[in-house]
Amino acid sequence: MSRLFAIFTIILLVGCSPEEKNSNIDSMASLGESVFNKNCVSCHGVKDQGLTTDWKVKDANGNYPPPPLNGTAHTWHHSPEQLLYTINKGGTEMGGQMPAFENRLTEEEKKALIDYMYSLWPKEIQVKYDDRFK
Ligand code: HEC
Repeated sequence: MSRLFAIFTIILLVGCSPEEKNSNIDSMASLGESVFNKNCVSCHGVKDQGLTTDWKVKDANGNYPPPPLNGTAHTWHHSPEQLLYTINKGGTEMGGQMPAFENRLTEEEKKALIDYMYSLWPKEIQVKYDDRFK
């Protein structure tokens, strides 16, 4: 009986270890989610889905709408450094509409936002992203 129990415990421990490795990333992503819901959701939509049906079509004022950040647009083509740059500077340097968050968020919050966006991407996009940038 006690041998069985020991085997069980080992299986449990082995089974759990990969998740423990990710728990740091997960806690960053959940910080990112709350930062996102306070600062970004009004434009980029719940879970980064965006608010428009087609983010490639300009609105009545000739501006591009905020793109979805959930992996269906081109966010995942940008390195973490480029994403950080967009969060810091917004889009105005390139004639866009996104406000700058450089002085409105801490460095940890910005990094958490990037982890949160990543966490919403489909697995195959995460794999491509890791190949390219990590
Ligand atoms: C006032 C609306 C608005 C808010 C608030 C906003 N964004 Fe944006 N965002 C945009 C628009 C519009 C674009 C497209 C580029 C442009 O016009 O500036 C964009 C582009 C981006 C991009 C580039 C996407 C890509 O595919 O290249 C990222 C990343 C991004 N936003 C992240 C964020 C994050 C993170 C926050 C919250 C800290 C945020 N945005 C808040 C409107 C907004």
